[in-house]
Amino acid sequence: MTTPRPETLAKLTPVLTKRWLSPDAWRIGTYEKLDGYAALRKALKAHPDDLIQLVKDSGLRGRGGAGFPTGLKWGFIPQGDGKPHYLVVNADEGEPGTCKDLPLMTHDPHSLVEGVIIASYAIRANRAYIYIRGEAVHAARRLRNAVQEAYAKGYLGRNILGSGFDLELVVHSGAGAYICGEETALLDSLEGFRGQPRLRPPFPATHGLYASPTVVNNVGTIASVPYIVLGGAAWWKTMGTEKSSGPMIYSLSGRIANPGQYECSMGVTLRELLELAGGMQPGHNLKFWTPGGSSTPLLTAEHLDVPLDFESVAAAGSILGTTATQIFSDQDCPVYATYRWLEFYHHESCGKCTPCREGNYWMVRVYRRILSGQGTYEDLDTLLDTCDNILGRSFCGLGDGATSSVTSSLQYFKQDYLDYIEGRTAPKLSDKQLVGAH
Ligand SMILES: Cc1cc2nc3c(=O)[nH]c(=O)nc-3n(C[C@H](O)[C@H](O)[C@H](O)COP(=O)(O)O)c2cc1C
Ligand code: SF4
Repeated sequence: MTTPRPETLAKLTPVLTKRWLSPDAWRIGTYEKLDGYAALRKALKAHPDDLIQLVKDSGLRGRGGAGFPTGLKWGFIPQGDGKPHYLVVNADEGEPGTCKDLPLMTHDPHSLVEGVIIASYAIRANRAYIYIRGEAVHAARRLRNAVQEAYAKGYLGRNILGSGFDLELVVHSGAGAYICGEETALLDSLEGFRGQPRLRPPFPATHGLYASPTVVNNVGTIASVPYIVLGGAAWWKTMGTEKSSGPMIYSLSGRIANPGQYECSMGVTLRELLELAGGMQPGHNLKFWTPGGSSTPLLTAEHLDVPLDFESVAAAGSILGTTATQIFSDQDCPVYATYRWLEFYHHESCGKCTPCREGNYWMVRVYRRILSGQGTYEDLDTLLDTCDNILGRSFCGLGDGATSSVTSSLQYFKQDYLDYIEGRTAPKLSDKQLVGAH
């Protein structure tokens, strides 16, 4: 294991993670001692429009994967329309490899609750929901406890801190479907329907929850808000790059010495993150990695010095996504890894549109054929052709994301595919698995 040099250690910028290691960090007493709810007191004295402007000035971009400017999204909510407004926090965190929102809610749930109150005040919402993944029982328990504590202290409910502002906050557990992380499927699920994406336009900003103006934001986005209110937009922009401001929680997993969450200014490189994480496991050399979960095209050892911000990762041919860096070594097979991800997308496809529903079904079968040693050269063309028919032709981002590892692994690791087809690599699947379960 390598020890990080002081200049690399200085790359750590604990902001959202700063309380995580404090004893009983999840309790309101600890939170209040460590500046908790100070931002709320400050925000309630400001005009809601000024808060929206502050978030715009900070350059905060959504932490849920697409990097949409948060202040701009809040500004889309029509004001004075006489309709109820809603804030919905997307706490579904289903992207394979992603592990930043659940630890945040487990260790520091009040930062999310405080962010929800400030954001709701800014967009004039009197009801907010946190939609949390069904399997995340522990995090949901912590969150519900934090919400109860906040009610008991007068941070939630009627006339919050004497400001005249009312807010009810509901924590809703989903049933554990990846598609319910897609914001419009999430809204359907929250309304009690089967979670499937909605046709847009109209967008949630005007026709969201119960056909009313709604902001949907990721946990990390909303939990950033109290820090921006306290520290100011200029301070937030001292971290990160010009177009990707602030700190970001990078979750590192795979063949590294110390997997976990590392919060750094946006634009840190994988080389630096690896040093912080103690390097690769002994005997392993980096072969491929995802910069932002399995829906983002694979990168390789050539990309160790790409700054991990929205623009630079896009310029390198991938997507920053959820900053879930999954690290694979020369002892891992990109063909098999892609197959396992495809199994996931096939399983999680909601079935609403043909390219994703049928395309993933067929690609799983082609991978099984290749991995059982019965693949042909034509299979590689079939995979690329299928991806071509899914990417940009699917109803939502799940279909597009499913193609990422297929096309990028064929771009960088075609030889690994040929090794199965030409018999140099032993089959990983048996004939029995070739057919497999549906
Ligand atoms: C298949 C799919 C799954 C998604 N899962 C999540 C998720 O678990 N959490 C999340 O915040 N965003 C997820 N998103 C993105 C959301 O649709 C939406 O862009 C995001 O919640 C907006 O929040 P932000 O602006 O704060 O990033 C997903 C998108 C797709 C297409
Ligand atoms: S792309 Fe897949 S998940 Fe999205 S609507 Fe189509 S079938 Fe459903």
